[in-house]
Amino acid sequence: MIPSKAATPIYASLLSADFGRLWEQVAELETSGVIDGLHIDVMDGRFVPNYAMGPQSVEALRSRTRLPMEVHLMVDEPANAMPIFANAGAARLIVHAEASRNLHRDVVSAARLGVQIGVALNPATPVQVLEHVLEDLDEVLLMGVDPGFGGQSFIESVLPKIRTCRDLIDRRQARAKINIDGGVKEENARTIADAGAHWLVVGSALFGGSSITSCCHRIAAALSAR
Ligand code: DX5
Ligand code: ZN
Repeated sequence: MIPSKAATPIYASLLSADFGRLWEQVAELETSGVIDGLHIDVMDGRFVPNYAMGPQSVEALRSRTRLPMEVHLMVDEPANAMPIFANAGAARLIVHAEASRNLHRDVVSAARLGVQIGVALNPATPVQVLEHVLEDLDEVLLMGVDPGFGGQSFIESVLPKIRTCRDLIDRRQARAKINIDGGVKEENARTIADAGAHWLVVGSALFGGSSITSCCHRIAAALSAR
């Protein structure tokens, strides 16, 4: 039987992958049939206290998978990085409101680069900062953890923020999808989806178990259980 995609689309974060077996693991994510795209974490050691992924890695991934890639730019002044990662093959770029010098300019520049655009908010950043860019967004990425590392626990106070954000999007009839990044696991995926998330990013929970395929299917099952 070919498994159907999850009830809530799942983006796989590669941060916790085994980079020695990256192509094999990406192929396994793809063939699981329940992953809607890859979530690529880029870190500059300034905006967050860690380093991850450059444009060459994104370019190499582009030629090895059909899964669409969203690139989460955890970098200061993302305007500099946007054209580089658009050229590398990202379908969607995500900039942090806290890191952008001019959020509106960064958001509208995505159209010129031929990519979709998302804005990420750290747990302590209120949804209100989206007020003047919401209609231009394809995605709102609400962080479930303070960014920088995989494998952290979901911060529960983000749950009511998801609902607030969903109400705002629905009220304004905006096209933006809410994605949740950080701390999403089999145990809490359903609760987070029910709070109003359209999509989920899952990282360490896909790579820690006996097999990637079984982790993918367990999370998909948790999302569709009634
Ligand atoms: C955190 C990253 C996340 C992270 C998710 O800074 O943006 O994408 O890798 O990993 P888990 O699911 O392990 O929290
Ligand atoms: Zn991320």
